[in-house]
Amino acid sequence: MAPTTPSSAPEPINQFDLSGQYAAIGHEIREVVERVLALQQLVLGKEVSALEKELAEFCGVAHGVGVANGTDALILALRACNVYAGDEVLIPTLTFVATASAVNVLNAKPVFADVDRVTLNLDPDDVCRRITPKTKAIIAVHLHGLPADMDALREIAKERKLPLIEDNAQAIGATYKGHRTGSLADIACISFYPTKNLGAAGDGGMIVTNSAEFDSRLRTLRNHGQASRYVSTEPGWNSRLDEIQAAILRVKLRHLPNWQKARQAIAAKYSSLLANVKGVSTPVIPEGYEHVFHQYTIRSDRRDDLQKFLADRKIGTQIYYPIPLHLQPLYAGLGHKAADFPNAEHVTGEILSLPMYPELTAEKIERVAATIAEFSR
Ligand SMILES: Cc1ncc(COP(=O)(O)O)c(C=O)c1O
Repeated sequence: MAPTTPSSAPEPINQFDLSGQYAAIGHEIREVVERVLALQQLVLGKEVSALEKELAEFCGVAHGVGVANGTDALILALRACNVYAGDEVLIPTLTFVATASAVNVLNAKPVFADVDRVTLNLDPDDVCRRITPKTKAIIAVHLHGLPADMDALREIAKERKLPLIEDNAQAIGATYKGHRTGSLADIACISFYPTKNLGAAGDGGMIVTNSAEFDSRLRTLRNHGQASRYVSTEPGWNSRLDEIQAAILRVKLRHLPNWQKARQAIAAKYSSLLANVKGVSTPVIPEGYEHVFHQYTIRSDRRDDLQKFLADRKIGTQIYYPIPLHLQPLYAGLGHKAADFPNAEHVTGEILSLPMYPELTAEKIERVAATIAEFSR
């Protein structure tokens, strides 16, 4: 294929694009939105209950609790695990800031652990090193759609009698040793932010768990601590999911398995086209893991130049995430310095997420890969 140049003015390729999805299923979405509006039951109604049941079933657990967004899911899950002011919660330093800010909201302290250089997920050995008597919970993030090393993390959590929480914002549908994310720990948090693999038409979130006790506490917490109508038993929030979002998510959940297959096929095509490109490495999927490619993330030792080369040719890319949390200005007070988390610091200089959404065409994938190959020559 002939290399593209800026002067040939090719059609831009966005890093993410929802327009194809809406063109395909817009009629189904409009139909359920009409249905909800006609009923005028708008918050925590039949659609939310049905989605809670369907999503719990999808994840392979007993309970689902709909909430306002993925950050609230984390906050409420932490509180359900009895995290209070002054407690410590272990999280990876390479994640979206929401994983940490959820801990801060409860006046608890996020304690960072390094990640594995290959999987980009929590390094269990570093988790062990950073546990203290104040540690109250561990959050494992399944970054970019690849499950974390859950056997090792479960072992640590069990030994130290700590609750283990999955931040499953990015990996709904992924499997680890035959089990779906959401069923791999004590409690799991899902985000329905529109860019997620299962995205709402706005904000939304859910907590899934096998524990009836967590389920009942979470239902209380998400509604001002009301254990029954107008009887509050503990401080809570308003973190309710609305019926329109739930109805839209139920439509999309039916399409999710096909979208997941499409993402995996796109990833396979990228990986085969980039296999012999010098200076670039493609995602590694450990044996027994299934990646759902919320992001398809390559590594390049000339990442910033490569990103600019692609941008000049109208190919969108993103870095998830450019600054590990321990180096964020927000956490300067924790006193971390460069080289404290060598793996995270190393990979944040290399990672680049390529265009990825289920409707991405073969022609566009080929153009992205050919442009990367052209850069490498
Ligand atoms: C890893 C991770 N955790 C938590 C969140 C927070 O979810 P939300 O934006 O729905 O609050 C997100 C997404 O934004 C995320 O990617």
